Amino acid sequence: MAGDKNNLDITTQLVHAGERTDPPAGQPTSLPIYASATYTYESMTEIDQVFAGDKAGYIYTRYGNPTVNAFAEAMRVAEDGATACAYSSGMAALHASLFACELSPGAVLLASQDLYGATTNLLQTIFGSFGIKTIMADFSDLDAVRAKANEFKPRVLVAETISNPLLKVCDIDTCAEIAHAIGARLIVDNTFASPYLCRPLQHGADIVVHSATKFLGGHADAMGGIAVSSEQADSAALIGVMKLVGGVPNSPSAAIRRAGFD
Ligand SMILES: Cc1ncc(COP(=O)(O)O)c(C=O)c1O
Repeated sequence: MAGDKNNLDITTQLVHAGERTDPPAGQPTSLPIYASATYTYESMTEIDQVFAGDKAGYIYTRYGNPTVNAFAEAMRVAEDGATACAYSSGMAALHASLFACELSPGAVLLASQDLYGATTNLLQTIFGSFGIKTIMADFSDLDAVRAKANEFKPRVLVAETISNPLLKVCDIDTCAEIAHAIGARLIVDNTFASPYLCRPLQHGADIVVHSATKFLGGHADAMGGIAVSSEQADSAALIGVMKLVGGVPNSPSAAIRRAGFD
């Protein structure tokens, strides 16, 4: 009742003035940036249903956000994958992708010696501290990659389509064949190529990762990361890491979807 509300103190009225109106009748032609951290429902029952996954909806932006999901979906299409998840940075996306490969203590990673420095550091320090060993190889020498794969039986091979900073180009088809021959998965960081030039999943990679901070964003004004997998089954792990480790993009950064590709 508007009359009652007007009797409230001005400070009380301003807490919610102009907010929590019904969604607009017209469908916006450009997806709004949903800057809300939380979402409200009419009843606790409805909240419980959304939390339980029995009803579609958003609860809390670390668990999902319409703008962030739109970015992930755009990248799933761009990379021709089965599932995608967006993160606050490329490093968060790499971490989640490796986690999705079910690494346990004693597992081995076979990584390109030309990876971006922080990626090598992530493998050696963070994953290393959990007993996961990283072996390096020159991925431009495919015989060496095959020999190390056969010797160390890694669970995952990690490469960059075009390496940072030396711009070495990876033969993704052959690396995928080497990985799959020993039951390993291939993660490809496609940051420097972009899906416009190369779509690693079409060449046999299992998970493709980007620092969206670079070409995808395009303007050096937003941090972001994305992981796209060829396997729908990776969705639970990719989203699970986003929810629990919390490297979730804020929604304005996820508007990278609109800014990118130009
Ligand atoms: C090839 C590559 N991968 C990953 C990253 C990490 O991305 P971010 O800085 O968005 O975490 C970078 C950053 O420079 C990069 O160049």
